[in-house]
Amino acid sequence: MKLLVTGGAGYVGSVCAARLVEAGHEVVVVDDLSTGHADAVPEGCRFVEGDVSEVAGSLLGEGFDGVLHFAAKSLVGESMQDPAKYWHGNVVTSLRLLEAMREHGTPRLVFSSTAATYGEPDEVPIAETAPPRPTNTYGATKLAIDMAMASYAASHGLAAVSLRYFNVAGAHGRFGERHAVETHLIPIVLQVALGQREQVQIYGDDWPTEDGTCVRDYIHVTDLADAHLLALDRAKPGEHVVYNLGNGTGFSVKQVIDTCREVTGHPIPAAVAPRREGDPAALVASSERARLELGWTPQRPDLADIVGDAWAFTRQALRV
Ligand code: UFG
Repeated sequence: MKLLVTGGAGYVGSVCAARLVEAGHEVVVVDDLSTGHADAVPEGCRFVEGDVSEVAGSLLGEGFDGVLHFAAKSLVGESMQDPAKYWHGNVVTSLRLLEAMREHGTPRLVFSSTAATYGEPDEVPIAETAPPRPTNTYGATKLAIDMAMASYAASHGLAAVSLRYFNVAGAHGRFGERHAVETHLIPIVLQVALGQREQVQIYGDDWPTEDGTCVRDYIHVTDLADAHLLALDRAKPGEHVVYNLGNGTGFSVKQVIDTCREVTGHPIPAAVAPRREGDPAALVASSERARLELGWTPQRPDLADIVGDAWAFTRQALRV
């Protein structure tokens, strides 16, 4: 297929673009490099630098079989401080993309949605049938886009899939996480192991969980990317389907730090800090639907493998 990958210079987008090229697809990446890196665009892709809302229309006029839409603002904290950046950057851009797809008859869309659409769940594991009640602007904007996709599927025959990611981590060879402002747990802990930070702060140890720290479902970025390829094949005209992507196993912040200690051999000092605003206690996915309908089976579900791949990438990126 000829595919447009928005945000293909970012973390998840670059891994997915690499997998698409490996699978023999023709890939065009569009990215404004606001958070991505030009050197992260995989070999074999055509790269167009620009804002999706401005360039998607003319690009799609060339004729594409589908779009994988990763380009987005994705910091929960920032979305609460500057909601306009998220409503414009995520929702307005995606609406323009949907219109451009309709205008040019692009048949398929696979979208990066998020577990943040669910907010504080009533029960875990979380199924796609759980009520979406986002507790932050980031999650609200992603949910709005999911809903717009459902409308375009129903009214215009779009074949649409929203993939709701849980906590993405790990790396795919030379493609990994390189955020200018790092807020995610595993890369932060690895920065401590590298000596770039003195310690990791544990945001609260009084949560209603077994060891008192927050529980999350970590998924390897390569497994996540593979679900996109399956979703592309599964997408049906006139249907919008949502799939949760996680391993179905929760790890606490303390367990993640312990695993990083084992993988790196570094003591990794940690200190308990106040809770972070907006954090749910536990988020674990039920990915039964993806397993049954997409035939998706994660290949690297072990946390030690996920951390090991992130560690190898970090050391290679810094040449240490
Ligand atoms: N944490 C710490 N210390 C840190 C960083 C994180 O204790 O220095 C904790 C957080 O409080 C949380 C856990 O580690 O309990 C994981 O935090 P991350 O920031 O790595 O990830 P989140 O669970 O907050 O967010 C992820 C995605 C979001 C998505 C969300 C869905 O990064 O994009 O899952 O709930 F919205």
